[in-house]
Amino acid sequence: METFHIFLSLFLFPLSTTPINPITSTFYADPEASIFNSLYHIHPTYSAPYDQQTFFDAFTSSDLVTWTKHEKILTIGNVSWATRAMWAPSVIKNGDKYYFFFSANDVHEGEIGGIGVAVGDSPVGPFSDLLGRPLIGEIINGAQPIDGFVFRDPITSAHYLYYGGWGHCNVVRLNSNFTGLLPFIDGTYYKEITPEGYVEGPFMLVRNGNYYFMWSEGGWGGPDYRVAYAMGNNPLGPFVKQGVILEQDINVATGAGHHSVFQLPDESEYFIAYHRRPLNETDANARVVCVDRMEFDQDGKILKVNMTFEGVVGPDLP
Ligand SMILES: *[C@@H]1O[C@H](CO)[C@@H](O)[C@H](O)[C@H]1NC(C)=O
Ligand SMILES: *[C@@H]1O[C@H](CO)[C@@H](O)[C@H](O)[C@H]1NC(C)=O
Ligand SMILES: *[C@@H]1O[C@H](CO)[C@@H](O)[C@H](O)[C@H]1NC(C)=O
Ligand SMILES: *[C@@H]1O[C@H](CO)[C@@H](O)[C@H](O)[C@H]1NC(C)=O
Repeated sequence: METFHIFLSLFLFPLSTTPINPITSTFYADPEASIFNSLYHIHPTYSAPYDQQTFFDAFTSSDLVTWTKHEKILTIGNVSWATRAMWAPSVIKNGDKYYFFFSANDVHEGEIGGIGVAVGDSPVGPFSDLLGRPLIGEIINGAQPIDGFVFRDPITSAHYLYYGGWGHCNVVRLNSNFTGLLPFIDGTYYKEITPEGYVEGPFMLVRNGNYYFMWSEGGWGGPDYRVAYAMGNNPLGPFVKQGVILEQDINVATGAGHHSVFQLPDESEYFIAYHRRPLNETDANARVVCVDRMEFDQDGKILKVNMTFEGVVGPDLP
């Protein structure tokens, strides 16, 4: 009966069952979701062993279904201080330039590396290293300088960078051209905002005056990697933890995390981009990028995301 029903719906509605997820079978992770120039953009990590993870590709789409790949928009050869392990892009337009934040070198105490910033005239590059050194290269408050997420506060237009691995999250304020940091009101430059359970992969979203601070928990190489969030009323917190909204599903995939959110200009719909591990894979780097619907309840809480193979069809962008 059930089989017959599935067969019938495949036959009658072939489009609705065409798998859209993942957006490509090539391994990518840590997708940054953004909208530029009426196109959906995904800037992911190329997911491979650290010594092969040495460049960035980007993807664009008008509908979240058909994706165009833009190859090698930034490579290790473009960054004098980068030697291996480039990951976790975050992209923003500032003035008439596009800025591409990235992590490089999996830096430990005393090593060179961290979060860099590159600049270009297009969101799909080519990008050039802005500083010739990392923007953040020190380990402050125990946070490995990785996984930067650049955020423009819609209320004040101030730019912040949320970042940090090893279970610690810092936020810094960026200067107007992203060449350095500005102090907070108390004169400090690094504010630790680590919520309970935080591991890495911070993200910030504003909706109806609520600041949704989100992050990944668990180990990225294992099945229980997941996304949780907290709420606050300003970009620096305090934030109140709400819970986990994305995690493994035994029918779909494991290790779902390091996400980002497409916000439509009219705020009518939200689509979450994230990576997950196909059920038949256990290798840490076997990660694929997917997009699914993210919804809020009437109290503004985020509902649990249903991971799908069908994906979503994004509306035309203005
Ligand atoms: C970045 O490096 C690639 C080679 O990996 C080169 O083709 C490209 O021109 C470089 N881009 C810039 C902006 O210098
Ligand atoms: C960035 O702005 C600072 C002043 O805030 C200025 O000194 C510097 O030259 C600018 N750098 C670039 C690359 O525009
Ligand atoms: C998992 O399935 C995909 C799609 O069928 C296949 O390409 C891949 O090789 C499989 N991976 C393993 C580890 O068997
Ligand atoms: C997830 O699936 C449940 C059960 O089908 C449904 O009630 C819920 O609305 C779905 N959530 C989202 C965000 O689509």
